[in-house]
Amino acid sequence: MPHDCKVGSCGTCRFKLVDGKIGELSPSALVLEREELAAGYRLACQAMPRSDLTIALNAPLAMQSTVEDYIGTIIAAPRLCQDIIGLTLELDRPLPFSPGQYADLTAPGIEGPRSYSFAFAPERGEAQRLEFHVRHVPGGLFTDWLFGQDRTGQELRLSGPFGQFRLKDSAAPMLCLAGGSGLAPIMAILQQARAMGATRPVTLLYGARTRQHLYCLEEIEALRAAWKAPFEFVPVLSEEDVDSAWAGARGLVTEPIARLPDQARSEAYLCGPPAMIDAAEAQLMQHGVLPGLIAADRFLDKSTVR
Ligand SMILES: Cc1cc2nc3c(=O)[nH]c(=O)nc-3n(C[C@H](O)[C@H](O)[C@H](O)COP(=O)(O)OP(=O)(O)OC[C@H]3O[C@@H](n4cnc5c(N)ncnc54)[C@H](O)[C@@H]3O)c2cc1C
Ligand code: FES
Repeated sequence: MPHDCKVGSCGTCRFKLVDGKIGELSPSALVLEREELAAGYRLACQAMPRSDLTIALNAPLAMQSTVEDYIGTIIAAPRLCQDIIGLTLELDRPLPFSPGQYADLTAPGIEGPRSYSFAFAPERGEAQRLEFHVRHVPGGLFTDWLFGQDRTGQELRLSGPFGQFRLKDSAAPMLCLAGGSGLAPIMAILQQARAMGATRPVTLLYGARTRQHLYCLEEIEALRAAWKAPFEFVPVLSEEDVDSAWAGARGLVTEPIARLPDQARSEAYLCGPPAMIDAAEAQLMQHGVLPGLIAADRFLDKSTVR
C-alpha cells in the first residue's frame, strides 16, 4: 500500500472506499479535499476495517516498490557535522530503491522502527551498502542510542523501501529546499538527476543553525561543478553568531524564496522538519507555484505527529 507518514498528514495513502465499512483514527477531512471525500476517498493509515472492504487506488499496486525485511550491520558512523552522523550499513543482500525513498530501522532494545532516507542514488537501482544521514534529537531513543557510543558492528533490522518522494520526469527548473538532515534525500535525487544528464537549472536552499551544522559541502560543490545547467547553492544560517565571519545568508531557509526569480515555473522538492515544509509550501503557493509542482518529505517524529 503506498504510504509516507503513517500518521494521517501527507495524503499519500488515499484510497477510494468502494464497498464496506471503516472506522477512522483521525478524520480524513483534515487532509483530503471536500470533493475527494464526497467521491469516497479516505486515508488508509487512519482506517480500521469494520467489514470486508472493496477499495480502489489511483495507480496500480504493481507499480509500487516491494517492501522486504533485511539485516544490516553498522560498518561506519562518522560525524558529518555537529549533530549529524553518516550511518553506513552493510545489508545481508542488495536492496532496490529509488532516490528520495526511505527505510525503517529498528535497533535492539528500542521499541518500534525509525525512518531514515537513503542519502545517495544507487548505481544500478539497488545497493547492499547504504548510507543515511541521522541527526541527533536530544531525548530521542534511537538517536541517543546511536550517538551515545561507537556502534560499529551492531546489527539493525531494516525494512523498505518506502515513500513516494521521487524525482519527477520533467524539464522544469528545480527548487530544492532542505533543513538539517533533510539534505539526505535531496542529495540522492540530485545525484540521480545528474546521472540522467539533467539540464534543468537548480536552486538549492539549505537551512542549518550555524556553520558547525553545515555538512556535505564538498559533495554539493562536486554536484554543482558537474551540473549541465545553472546550479545555485544558498546555505542559510538561523543561529550563527552575529559577530562571526559568516558572509552568507542568515535567517530562515524559507526567506530567500520570495527573492527568487520566476518561482512559478519551478518544481519544488522540500525535505526536513514539518514546520519548515509547511512554511515553504505556503510561500511557494503565495508565489504562484501550483500544489501539484510541490513534492515534500516531512521528517515527522514522535513530537510532531498528531
Ligand atoms: C519519512 C521519514 C524520513 C525520515 N528521514 C530522516 C533522515 O533521513 N534523517 C534523520 O535524521 N531523520 C529522519 N527522520 C526522522 C526519524 O525517523 C526520527 O523520527 C528521528 O531520528 C528521531 O528518532 P529518535 O528515536 O531519536 O527520537 P524519538 O524517541 O522518536 O523521539 C523524538 C522526539 O519526540 C519526543 N517524544 C517522544 N515521545 C513523545 C511523545 N509521546 N509526545 C511528545 N514528544 C515525544 C522526544 O523527546 C524527542 O524529542 C525521518 C522521518 C520520516 C517520517
Ligand atoms: S496520510 Fe496516510 S501515509 Fe500519510
